[in-house]
Amino acid sequence: MHLHKYEKIWLLFGIGSLVVFLFVVGYGAFWQGTHPQSHGVTIDPNNIESNEAFKPENLGLTKVDEDEYIINIAASAFYYDLGKDEEGNSVRTIRIPKGSKVLWQAATKDVIHGFHVAGTNVNMMVEPGYVSSLETIMDNPGTYTIVCNEYCGIGHHMMYATVEVYE
Ligand code: CUA
Repeated sequence: MHLHKYEKIWLLFGIGSLVVFLFVVGYGAFWQGTHPQSHGVTIDPNNIESNEAFKPENLGLTKVDEDEYIINIAASAFYYDLGKDEEGNSVRTIRIPKGSKVLWQAATKDVIHGFHVAGTNVNMMVEPGYVSSLETIMDNPGTYTIVCNEYCGIGHHMMYATVEVYE
């Protein structure tokens, strides 16, 4: 079979691109351990309170060690439940010291929501039936808005909360 010179060049280019692509994906998956955040831990979407982390009294910020925190979030249309403060008011802003190690854990009571701490790499999809979690270190002081970045209904744009990282 005779192949034209240009055909050979394009064929090699195509195969080469495929090899590079598979290598990049394989490197990410097998060496760097990149994988979807959720699907690890399941939860009853009709009763997320049955999971210890999502009981009303465990929502929001919990200090587990020096500079180490867990933040549990119950998402629902169109609200992030971050627990209550001492006066019984709903927490809308979470305050953590700079350099804190934070384990974010989110679950949804209804539809798919997003959980993105804008300006950081904390960005999770929150799917019914699963606990989404992500661990990060909050290094940069500032005020960050938590936004829902999955369209979840008429009040989607109203779904937000705030994180303040202080010095
Ligand atoms: Cu929740 Cu969009």
